[in-house]
Amino acid sequence: MSAVSLQGIDISYGSVDVVRNLDLDIRSGEFVVFVGPSGCGKSTTLRLIAGLEEGRSGQISIGERIVNDVDPAKRDVAMVFQNYALFPHMSVADNISFGMRLRGEAKEKIQSGVADVARMVGLADHLHKRPGALSGGQRQRVALARAIVRKPAVFLFDEPLSNLDAEFRAAMRYELSRLHRELGSTMIYVTHDQVEAMTMGDRIAVLAPLKQAGRSNLMQFGTPEEVYHRPANLFVAKFIGSPPMNFFEGHANGATISIGTLGFPGASHLPADLTVGIRPEHVGLGTGEGPFVAGTVDGVENLGHEKLWFLATEQGRVVARTSGAVSHAVGDRIRVHFATDKIHLFDRATGERVEV
Ligand SMILES: Nc1ncnc2c1ncn2[C@@H]1O[C@H](COP(=O)(O)OP(=O)(O)O)[C@@H](O)[C@H]1O
Ligand SMILES: [Mg+2]
Repeated sequence: MSAVSLQGIDISYGSVDVVRNLDLDIRSGEFVVFVGPSGCGKSTTLRLIAGLEEGRSGQISIGERIVNDVDPAKRDVAMVFQNYALFPHMSVADNISFGMRLRGEAKEKIQSGVADVARMVGLADHLHKRPGALSGGQRQRVALARAIVRKPAVFLFDEPLSNLDAEFRAAMRYELSRLHRELGSTMIYVTHDQVEAMTMGDRIAVLAPLKQAGRSNLMQFGTPEEVYHRPANLFVAKFIGSPPMNFFEGHANGATISIGTLGFPGASHLPADLTVGIRPEHVGLGTGEGPFVAGTVDGVENLGHEKLWFLATEQGRVVARTSGAVSHAVGDRIRVHFATDKIHLFDRATGERVEV
C-alpha cells in the first residue's frame, strides 16, 4: 500500500481543459471514491494516476516516488474497469494468472496465489470453467481477482459494478469493502453513483465538470458524514442526497434569516442573499418544532419503512421524508415544519457554504 498525491494537476484534450488545479492527498490504505456527474473528469484523473493519460502540469506521487515519468507497468497499480476484458478461451484460473505466467513466475507460486485469491472473491469452485459459463457478477470477480493477484500498492477501479444488476451491485459493494479491510491496500474508486460513494468511501472526492466548477473541479474532499452533513457548496449539496435537499431563496437581515414569511435565527455577518437548504428528513409534517408553512399533500411514495411526501406550499414544492407510520391522504392540508437547527446556508452569489 502507498499514499497517492496529486498536486496542481491540469489535464486537457487538445485545447479543451478537462481537469484544473486538482490537489488531492490520499492516505496509504485509504478507500477514496471519486464521485460526480458524467464528464467531470473522474476517469481521466484515474487514468492519469495509472499513467495512461498525461497531464499538462502538476505532480503525481505514489508512495515516496514521483511517477510523472514512470511507465504505467512500473507504477505498481492495478486497474479494474467496467468492461473487464477476459480471455474467452482460457479457464478462470488461467485468466487470473495470465500476468504471473507472462512474468514467468514459478508454477507453485502461481497455483497458491490463484487459490488464495479465488477464495477471497468466491471463485474457488469455478477455477476450471471458461468465462462464458459464468454470470456477469462472477466474470467481474475474475477481473477483480486478476488485479488482486498482482498485489499492487494501489487499486484503481473505474465504475466496476455499473454492468451488474442492482442486487449484485449491493453484494459486490459489501465484498469490495471487506476486501479492502482484508488487503489493507490503497483503493481509488470512480463512480457516478452517490450510494456507492457514501457506502464505500473512507473519504469522498466530489468533482464537478469544469464549466460548472470555479478554480478547480474538486468541490469537496471529506468523509461521507462531512459531505452529507456539511456540504461545502451548493454543488455538493445538490449532488449528495436522494431525494435531494430542498432549496429556498432566503434573506439575512441582522439576526434573522427569512424565507418568505418564515423566520430563522441568523447572525449579523451573513451575506444578504442566501440559498437555504433543508434535507427531506428535516421537514416535519403536521406536528414538530420550528417554523412552519401551510401545505397540501400532492403525492406520497410509500417505501415501507419510510414515506416520501411531495408537498405544495407557499414556498414552492417541498419534499419530506418520514417514517412509514406517518399517515396523511393526498389533498390533505397540513403544517410543514422546518427543523431550525438543520438548515444549510449558502451565499447565493458564490454558492459557498456559510455558517451562522
Ligand atoms: N480521449 C478524449 N479526447 C477528447 N476528450 C475526451 C477524451 N476522453 C474524455 N474526454 C472528455 O473529457 C471530459 C471528462 O471525461 P471523463 O474523465 O471520461 O469523465 P467521467 O469519467 O467523469 O465521466 C469529458 O468532457 C469527455 O468528453
Ligand atoms: Mg468515466
